[in-house]
Amino acid sequence: MEDGRLSGVGRAECAGEIGDPEACPDQDEGDHDGCEVAPQQRRAAAVATAGVLRHGAIFAAAPIIGKNAGPMRAPILEGIGAYRPHRVVDNAEVCQWLDSTDEWIRERSGIRTRRWASPEETHAMMGTAAAREALERAGLEPEDLDMVMVATCTSTQPIWPVAHQVSASLGIEPAAMDLNVTCAGFCYGLGLARDLIRGGTVDHVLVIGVERLSDITDRTDRGTAFIFADGAGAVVIGSGSETGVGPPVWGSSAKRGETLLLSPSYAEFIADKDLGKPSIRMQGRRVFHWAGETIPSVARAAVEAAGMQMGDIDVFVPHQANQRITDLLVRSLGLDDDVVVGQDIVDSGNTSSASIPLAVHRLLADGKAHSGDVALLIGFGGGLSFCGQVVVLP
Ligand code: UT7
Repeated sequence: MEDGRLSGVGRAECAGEIGDPEACPDQDEGDHDGCEVAPQQRRAAAVATAGVLRHGAIFAAAPIIGKNAGPMRAPILEGIGAYRPHRVVDNAEVCQWLDSTDEWIRERSGIRTRRWASPEETHAMMGTAAAREALERAGLEPEDLDMVMVATCTSTQPIWPVAHQVSASLGIEPAAMDLNVTCAGFCYGLGLARDLIRGGTVDHVLVIGVERLSDITDRTDRGTAFIFADGAGAVVIGSGSETGVGPPVWGSSAKRGETLLLSPSYAEFIADKDLGKPSIRMQGRRVFHWAGETIPSVARAAVEAAGMQMGDIDVFVPHQANQRITDLLVRSLGLDDDVVVGQDIVDSGNTSSASIPLAVHRLLADGKAHSGDVALLIGFGGGLSFCGQVVVLP
């Protein structure tokens, strides 16, 4: 590690002539010390070589198949934002309709309160609020964004993606897309954004995680009713002089997917309304054990992929699934006592794809983590899916 930045994952600059792989043999992975290519030149070359559709302008260009479009850039997190719904729901309130107790919920999950969104706090509204804060902290305007990516598994309007609704609210028309990898969705989005930045396809990407899990939670289900909640978190990713977003280590245990799903499915519900509203069903104990078995090795691989050691990690923010899972991961990874650990589940519940940016935001706001700290993020959940990466906090 150098100066709190990630090593072994590429630099921003390069001595090679743009588009000439011979001149810079290390373009993909290596050291580009002493190289000088201005961002504008790189961008111009990428446009000229690759051809892009950007802000309505079409650049005709020669085909690039088999050619190298230019040196890799160094992705960094530039700003972070969050939105927490106004309504705070404590365990006593949950126990009005659930056969449970405050003591059991705290002991088995760590949760004391969670936030549930009102009808007005839509995906787009919460995502836009988080995005505005992230942009402000990055010192950017909405017009600076080339792409808006929204990770969500609870959108009820898939034909009008949340990413497009957020873009419209921000008054912009960039490339936009929703993606669904449930609780790993934010980290998947970060992984995709990293490579889009590295490759020079875009300059600034907004990645949002936003959920309204209260919409699809059966309030009487003992396995899920006290866990799931609502909220949004967002980050802006751009490029800098040193890499601040490490490679994603991602994958799935797809053969175990039936342990966490919506039941009945929407199709089953449409065919037979007597089945009741689609709700999350989780074989909690099985998912818990899977996380304990699988996630530590993903965490180690993510640290290794960033060219670092576990001792280099200042901040650990796993998906806020259950405080007992977080504690288990901290023990398995042998993290030092001075590593700051995300524990936002206590007050926010499990907000799926929003949980990691919300937890990071909380640590920064509370002064427990700081800009420049090296953080290990790991999302995991439905699918079953996982994605981890090391980042430098904005
Ligand atoms: O975000 C996606 C990823 N999600 C996760 O990673 C979540 C993973 N799983 C979990 O967090 C935990 O499995 C839960 C919090 C969901 C459940 O905790 P648990 O310790 O696994 O409980 P359990 O289902 O094994 O049940 C233990 C006991 C049972 O009683 P007996 O058989 O020991 O007498 C249950 O009947 O607790 C009882 N129980 C409850 N008691 C009060 C189960 N649910 C409740 C409840 N209130 N809500």
